[in-house]
Amino acid sequence: MDGNGRWAQQKGLPRLAGHEQGSKSIRQCVEACMETGVEFLTLYAFSSENWKRPPLEVNGLMLLLERFLNEKKEEMLREGVRLRAIGRLDDLPPPCRKKLSEVVEATASNSRLHVILALSYSGRTEILDAVKSIVRDAAGGGLAPDDVTPELISSRLYTEGIPDPDLLIRTSGEMRISNFLLWQLSYTEIHVTKKLWPDFAKADFFEALEDYKSRSRRFGGV
Ligand code: FPP
Repeated sequence: MDGNGRWAQQKGLPRLAGHEQGSKSIRQCVEACMETGVEFLTLYAFSSENWKRPPLEVNGLMLLLERFLNEKKEEMLREGVRLRAIGRLDDLPPPCRKKLSEVVEATASNSRLHVILALSYSGRTEILDAVKSIVRDAAGGGLAPDDVTPELISSRLYTEGIPDPDLLIRTSGEMRISNFLLWQLSYTEIHVTKKLWPDFAKADFFEALEDYKSRSRRFGGV
């Protein structure tokens, strides 16, 4: 969800105002998913690298997340949204973690739309954690080298049970993957828009879907 800082700067506002406005774009995307039947939406809300930002911004983002969870819980329950989170969630401040677990548990039986928040997330760390879990099993004698398949690796990632994304939308014109879902994005189509995240609305989501529909996906074949 890139471009919150630039959006705020362009308007002479503090960066947190950009994040605040950015949290409103989430609703636009959720509604667009519901209208088009998209079942999985993963939002890169906070990377492992984002902890390096000034404490004021980090704390503001954590408070914003907590408020978002408080405000949206009932609506998610009502609309059939299941919330999940991926990342090193133990890094989050305890009140945030608590609220997150509460909403994740409360919405666990919903299945209309799965909203997955990537929080304190890094694709490399995710792969590292998967490798560690595989090595632990191998050291205990429970796994042989030939047991290590792409399916096994997928099942050890934070995204276990979640299909690989069909489409990646990158806002604010950035042409990087930025440590996001490194394993899962292998065959994902990429749509880059110059729109800054706080300006990203339903129409932009539909435009991305149209772009996706025009692609011919060959998965390495002909
Ligand atoms: C990247 O833009 C955005 C973030 C690091 C935070 C994204 C968070 C939200 C949209 C809201 C909080 C999340 C939830 C789930 C309520 P940037 O700050 O790097 O923008 P810039 O590249 O223009 O500086």
